[in-house]
Amino acid sequence: MDNFILSTKRLVLRKMNKVDAERLLEIFSDPEAMRYYPTIKNEQQTIEWIDWTLDNYTKHGVGLWIVEDKVTGEFLGQCGIVPQEVDGVIEMEIGYLFVRRVWGKGYATEAALACKNYGFNQLKLNKMVSLIDKNNIPSIKVAERIGMHVEKIIHKWGKGVCVYAISN
Ligand SMILES: CC(C)(COP(=O)(O)OP(=O)(O)OC[C@H]1O[C@@H](n2cnc3c(N)ncnc32)[C@H](O)[C@@H]1OP(=O)(O)O)[C@@H](O)C(=O)NCCC(=O)NCCS
Repeated sequence: MDNFILSTKRLVLRKMNKVDAERLLEIFSDPEAMRYYPTIKNEQQTIEWIDWTLDNYTKHGVGLWIVEDKVTGEFLGQCGIVPQEVDGVIEMEIGYLFVRRVWGKGYATEAALACKNYGFNQLKLNKMVSLIDKNNIPSIKVAERIGMHVEKIIHKWGKGVCVYAISN
């Protein structure tokens, strides 16, 4: 597969492209999944998200990737490595958003763990972070399960955001 990034026991991570808009809208149109984001996203905003991701691939060689079931190819969510500014420094964030019908199966943890290993082993990163709203308990649990610890609280996106971090 041309766009292949990595695989795990149950998952394949591949590059995102324009035709993923419809799949991504299952997450972006769900108010529960978007609870810790400013708003849900419409089709135009989803296309802008894909463009931002493609720009990250070009400029940084990383970005959010599409997560699919390894056997069926079913779309499950997105997970990847995203450059984010933290106190004036660009840090590499492990980001994850999954469709609600597959929450609670360990997919987010499995994908995030694979991204952590990819970042440390393939990309030779020294440190990775996750920027998480202090009330987003499911996300905090994923960060903790892959070995991250809270480092500090910053002001970003108009609110207090916890910086979870892990160093190699
Ligand atoms: C954050 C998010 C990805 C977490 O999804 P999730 O389904 O809760 O996380 P996982 O898929 O890793 O599943 C974890 C749960 O499944 C359970 N589980 C079931 N089977 C499992 C398996 N084989 N392996 C690991 N965990 C498993 C775990 O015990 C865990 O339960 P717990 O949270 O009660 O301790 C999801 O809530 C989401 O997409 N939210 C919307 C977007 C968002 O906020 N993203 C984060 C922005 S910072």
